[in-house]
Amino acid sequence: MTIRPPVEPQLARRHRAATLALNGGLAHDPVTNAIAPNISMSVNNAFTPGDGSFSADGVPDLTALPFLYAGWTNPTVRQLELRIAALEGADDALATASGTAAATAVFFTFLKAGDHLIVSDVCYAGVHELACKLLPDYGIEVSTVNLSRLDDVVAAIRPNTRLIHAETPCNPLLRLTDLAALAELSKTHGILLAVDSTFATPVATCPLAHGADLVIHSLTKFINGHGDALGGCVAGRKDLVERIRSRAGVYFGAALSAQNAWLIMRGIDTLFPRMQAMSASAGKIAAFLQAHPAVSSVVYPGLPSHPQHDLAQRQMRVPGAMIIFQVRQLDAVAHRMAHESEVFDYAFSIGHQRSLVVLLKTQDLLRSTFALDPAQLADYRRYAGEGVLRLSIGLEDTQDLIDDLDHALRT
Ligand SMILES: Cc1ncc(COP(=O)(O)O)c(C=O)c1O
Repeated sequence: MTIRPPVEPQLARRHRAATLALNGGLAHDPVTNAIAPNISMSVNNAFTPGDGSFSADGVPDLTALPFLYAGWTNPTVRQLELRIAALEGADDALATASGTAAATAVFFTFLKAGDHLIVSDVCYAGVHELACKLLPDYGIEVSTVNLSRLDDVVAAIRPNTRLIHAETPCNPLLRLTDLAALAELSKTHGILLAVDSTFATPVATCPLAHGADLVIHSLTKFINGHGDALGGCVAGRKDLVERIRSRAGVYFGAALSAQNAWLIMRGIDTLFPRMQAMSASAGKIAAFLQAHPAVSSVVYPGLPSHPQHDLAQRQMRVPGAMIIFQVRQLDAVAHRMAHESEVFDYAFSIGHQRSLVVLLKTQDLLRSTFALDPAQLADYRRYAGEGVLRLSIGLEDTQDLIDDLDHALRT
């Protein structure tokens, strides 16, 4: 199935990122001149005599209508796709029902039985489990590699390696991958590189500019930013996105709803100021935690103590809004955060306007998700010890967040 794209806005100049976040890919409504995106809820669009949607002999032409059925795309979803493409400096993008659906779409488009996938040994648990527990059932070989160690990547490459799936900063460690170096390596071996950039957002890093082939997002997180819509996307070169759309976009049934696309676009309008404010707040909170006697370790890409601080400075324009930290009395502090916090909500997920905290115990994640060899485990513990509290910093006053943490740390 081929889907003809709608007319895309042509800009005379390439604008800077914050302007692109507002206007990139967005066209005024051609009928009403509405500036804000419309929401088009229709599941289907009609073939209308005289509008070119019938062939000369009167047969409906499936390739003539830009929008046919919302399972493939829809005017509001398409508007979001164009905005994501503009933000990431991509030719095109495909929106999906969730971030996990976007990763699934990439895996099942570029991998078949007999192929080999290299996936980060630590990344978002759902995608890690999809790669390691489901893909082998389909005859796909999978290796889990610490992608911050290029020698380990080289050692893992096989003649049938087709795809590397990276995540930077990775969930939950906030460990980084050197995208330019990994992209060079992937290109040398003719391997596609897909990067989940959910934690970074285009405000911090645009993976395609560092040489990646595809960038994946959970739009559920910072890009929507309001905790009220699931969504995902993958962006990149036109031919790659077209392949994903024609396979997974059509046959997986994981289309994004128009309503969620509209909510996510509403979120994108404030992505830059939100990320900048949350990142500035996270920097102060990370410094507070690092100075606190009850805290034994803090990982935040903006702290000079981050093991890859140099790379963070090269690759991230802002250090982001995610922090992990260790305390000696992990359970007690987690309990106080869950029961006595006035500002933080104790909850999974990240990237919302309200701050979130959750306890992630190393043993629990090793049991449920990550099968690490001794060197990988040592690296995991270097970042996360026996467990961490993961903070997703929102837009509240920084001092209120610090007061909440200070209270919980006085055990
Ligand atoms: C880095 C990362 N990628 C992907 C996902 C999956 O996103 P979704 O919940 O939209 O499927 C998550 C979810 O937490 C995530 O943290």
